[in-house]
Amino acid sequence: MQGKYRALWLNDDGLLEVIDQTKLPFEYKTKVLKTTQEVATAIQDMTVRGAGVIGSVAAFGIYIASMEVDDDYEKLKEKALLIRESRPTAVNLMWAVDKMLELLKDSTDLVNDSKLYAIKLNNDEALESQKIAEYGCNIIERILVEKNKKKINILTHCNAGWLAVIDEGTALAPIYEALRRGIDVHVWVDETRPRNQGASLTAWELTQSGVNHTIIADNTGGHLMQSGEVDMVIVGADRVSANGDVANKIGTYLKALAADDNDVPFYVAIPASTFDFDIRDGVKEIPIELRSEDEVKYMRGVDSDGVVREVLITPKDSPAINYGFDVTPARLITGLITNKGVCEADFDKIQEKFRG
Ligand code: MRU
Repeated sequence: MQGKYRALWLNDDGLLEVIDQTKLPFEYKTKVLKTTQEVATAIQDMTVRGAGVIGSVAAFGIYIASMEVDDDYEKLKEKALLIRESRPTAVNLMWAVDKMLELLKDSTDLVNDSKLYAIKLNNDEALESQKIAEYGCNIIERILVEKNKKKINILTHCNAGWLAVIDEGTALAPIYEALRRGIDVHVWVDETRPRNQGASLTAWELTQSGVNHTIIADNTGGHLMQSGEVDMVIVGADRVSANGDVANKIGTYLKALAADDNDVPFYVAIPASTFDFDIRDGVKEIPIELRSEDEVKYMRGVDSDGVVREVLITPKDSPAINYGFDVTPARLITGLITNKGVCEADFDKIQEKFRG
């Protein structure tokens, strides 16, 4: 299967190809994105999702846009806006678009240069993911020593693996590294309603890599923590404010509260592109995506004939509301696992490490 360790790539024809994540885990299908509009739509309808991958696709989206503007930088900026505004919460999207535009501002060959910059941006992300894997796995090893245990139970929410950030993700990267180091690791996978990124994507990824895991209903984590069945929590993030507040998939905050109440270490794994240094108070200022109520009211699955179907699971006329993300305050976070090492979720510590 091409793209097993990347959610996107340039195919043999030089076109941007992505795994269609709306089809997993039932079907492995890819999609070729050929126009700026197709890139923006793929981000909006979650053909591609996960903060890092949205940024990666956006970078290649600028390359695609450059082919539509005949070396006119002002026109490229206009096209870029369509991609930049396709989803509101994951700052990696805005970061990637802004970085590409900044790099290209004096370019005399937008098509060629944007392709090279997009490839470099993606390769840099992959290196950061590798570092996160190593630093995160060192924490896993330390917890095992401290608890004098041979097996670690890690709870994760949503999908922050290689479908979400190239090459190995953020929250799942330390788990893949643990596997390489021969550690006995088991993952509690929150199903992550309403779109079920845990049950459909994380579980699929872990199955591909042979990682021992169990899917749990979203409400189960607190009980497992009280029963001593969770040694640590690792999640990813879509935006981290300058003071260390973390926006991640809706429901993350509740897990952090339960972890705090049960002395379970709660880590957030992020590349540097997930920081938003312009925001000082994440809870008040990070924009939270509001998506269609249909994502709450309908569920997708396979029927007994093996046909993928979407079914209504609520009274037809009941209204629903669908916030995509919540914000976990810095005080509930044990540490940020970054490409530069583990950092306290604290304004001064973050400044020192990333802006010093
Ligand atoms: O709505 P999604 O599926 O794009 O949300 C993804 C998440 O919330 C992930 O946990 C997050 O992007 C961290 S992984 C980079």
